[in-house]
Amino acid sequence: MHATGTVSGVNEQLDSQGHLRHLVTLDGLSGDVLTGLMDRAEAYLIAPGQPGPGDRSLEGLTVCQLFYEASTRTKISFELAARRLGADVVNLVIPSSSATKGETVLDTLLTIQSMAVDFFVIRHKEAGLMRNIATQVCDRTSLINAGEGQQSHPTQGLLDVLTIRQHKKDFENLSIAITGDIRHSRVARSTCHALLALGVHDLRLIAPENLLPESNELTHARRYTDFDAGITDCDVIMMLRLQKERMQSGDIPDLDSYRKHYCLTSPRLKLARGDAIVMHPGPINRGIDMDSEVVDGRQSVIHQQVGNGVAVRMAVFAAIADGKKS
Ligand code: NCD
Repeated sequence: MHATGTVSGVNEQLDSQGHLRHLVTLDGLSGDVLTGLMDRAEAYLIAPGQPGPGDRSLEGLTVCQLFYEASTRTKISFELAARRLGADVVNLVIPSSSATKGETVLDTLLTIQSMAVDFFVIRHKEAGLMRNIATQVCDRTSLINAGEGQQSHPTQGLLDVLTIRQHKKDFENLSIAITGDIRHSRVARSTCHALLALGVHDLRLIAPENLLPESNELTHARRYTDFDAGITDCDVIMMLRLQKERMQSGDIPDLDSYRKHYCLTSPRLKLARGDAIVMHPGPINRGIDMDSEVVDGRQSVIHQQVGNGVAVRMAVFAAIADGKKS
């Protein structure tokens, strides 16, 4: 096996010619790289019922999806993205795979790699796993992180900033609030990295004290425990789910009290700018994260985020495929 040792630092996600080789994290990618991926994604956005873009960048290439954690929109959108670019796609169903016999993720991946697979799309709870695997795969193999513990979810971060850009042109002058269980959110971390790279100055994190990130993390953002103070005059409000599956039992808040202080309701939304957009990565717990009136209201761009997810993942696949051809 020819191991390449490609990702030991974030910028080593890029090859010597600047092409994306893997997508493990947004941390350390420049605003220019992110803007390039957003521009490319825009070109893939198709109206429902319209023909695809006719781009077969992935023809002859194979994508294998390894989802060790639950997923709806991320998994489906990666598969649609790959198929729309002409790839073959295989999915390993983890609960009936050799993982149940004790095979490690790395051994599973290296086994499937021997069948000439070009891309692995991986979701797993273990922080650091993606970077470790990326150092051990062969030259032709690329990894795309589809969610890594509470650490990172780079394609979600990309689709979030693309959605913001479609509504608000100038990142530097925006006030953006991220609210909810930030401590356990890989989405918040990746989206914050992207927002920072794109020049956002006024980034606000709003949560009960024990659901804010550790004080040495995301230090460029301002922290609030008072939701109303935090969302006042915001242009963008991104809500997050309580990710109980990653909490110690003592961290799980009392739901009535949480709802009272942190659920995005219509009256609370009025504190933001009148043209503020409301985002959520999904899945939503209606009545806890947000009231249905807001989820389905005129300021919600949640379905647009989902649609952008396919285009962003096409852009990431195509950008990596460029490097494979050069
Ligand atoms: C998120 C995830 O899995 O990190 N969902 C997603 O990918 N769109 C957020 C969550 O699970 O709450």
